[in-house]
Amino acid sequence: MKKIKVFFVLGTRPEVIKLAPLIMAFQSHPRFGVKIINTGQHQDMSHEFLKVFELIPDYDLQVMTEKQSLGSLTARIIQKLEEIFELEHPDFLFVQGDTTTALCGALSSFYAQIPLGHVEAGLRTGEKYRPFPEEMNRVLIARMVDLHFAPTPLAKTNLLKESIEEGKIFLTGNTVVDALLWILQRNVATSHPLLEKELRDDQGSFIIVVTAHRRENWGEGIRNIAQALKTLVSAHSRVKIFFPVHPNPVVKEVVYSELASLPRIFLLGSLEYPDFVYLLSRSSLVITDSGGVQEEAVSLGVPTLITRESTERPEIVEAGLGVLVGCDQERIVAEALKFMEDRGVSSMKRLLFGDGKASWRILRVIEGFFGLHHEDVEEFVPFIYG
Ligand code: UD1
Ligand code: UDP
Repeated sequence: MKKIKVFFVLGTRPEVIKLAPLIMAFQSHPRFGVKIINTGQHQDMSHEFLKVFELIPDYDLQVMTEKQSLGSLTARIIQKLEEIFELEHPDFLFVQGDTTTALCGALSSFYAQIPLGHVEAGLRTGEKYRPFPEEMNRVLIARMVDLHFAPTPLAKTNLLKESIEEGKIFLTGNTVVDALLWILQRNVATSHPLLEKELRDDQGSFIIVVTAHRRENWGEGIRNIAQALKTLVSAHSRVKIFFPVHPNPVVKEVVYSELASLPRIFLLGSLEYPDFVYLLSRSSLVITDSGGVQEEAVSLGVPTLITRESTERPEIVEAGLGVLVGCDQERIVAEALKFMEDRGVSSMKRLLFGDGKASWRILRVIEGFFGLHHEDVEEFVPFIYG
């Protein structure tokens, strides 16, 4: 029997992590033929992360250039996707999140009139330039989507407010939790020499994990975060900071010039996913502007300082699991110190973003879309327990 051709367009680290469990679910289904198009927006990290999940791309577009601009990246991706779609005629296409790759995947599917599914649909700050360009990418993608997979009830409400038909929105939870559980079930340990040396026998330190990459924080913002980290280590000998630095040279230049060779601040390259999950699961506090890292921290019961002015994940702040601190040095230090004094949140498990079944729910919906199944899909219900 002819297989239904389901294509996935991805290109950055978070897209690989959040689509991998879904791709694996589709690969194990007898009626679907899966193909992966890696735009290579993150040329190094996309390959490294695909390998973790033992996924091999069918197309590798190799679009990345150093310090790439949004316009040139967009042009390269759109042109290459058009050629592939003319050749392959996919029956369905998935994009995830809010990157340039996701926007280009959506636009190209629209031009080629391929039905489109959006994973992690409906996140909004309501501010055009925050985050930039991700907020507008999400808004634009939503207009072209046939099936919206919302991770939380709030995301679903956001889509309804934009007059998207309720029947096209499915509350699934976030696939990042599927990926996280996939790693945890493999008994994640670390073979990273520095993590092993610094963490294996250390029960007394206050471990802080830091990541930073958002365009709004480039330059001054990241410099301020770095100053706050210096204050924290010099004020408290119990603090150890691990900072896996994003490979973007714009980020690296600032972080290394401010923080290289300081005691108890460990600058690392981008960690492989199992190592990063291990680090997060050992941490007491996360300081980040990353979306995926916030979701994982919540799922692991680790509080987060969100180094942004506004958030498309307000659920975290409302549940008291994170605080918006911007890139304000004093706020970062003050809030970190409050968590050092223990707000008593860190031993809880939180199913705020998912229960590990998001991919399964999405698969069921697509079966229905192609007339293979008519089972109702139970909606994801967020849950917090101590
Ligand atoms: C991109 C996404 C952002 C997402 C982030 C996840 C856009 C506009 N931005 O931002 O939404 O949160 O990825 O990390 O889609 N680089 C490498 N090797 C890599 C990856 C990047 O050297 O494997 C360097 C290159 O010089 C590249 C630069 O980083 O030009 C920036 O990459 P880009 O994807 O444009 O932006 P990010 O800030 O990574
Ligand atoms: N991550 C990782 N290694 C690292 C830093 C992050 O595996 O050194 C993972 C992290 O677990 C999360 C994802 O990368 O799933 C987040 O990616 P990023 O912060 O680049 O993008 P965002 O989520 O902000 O779009």
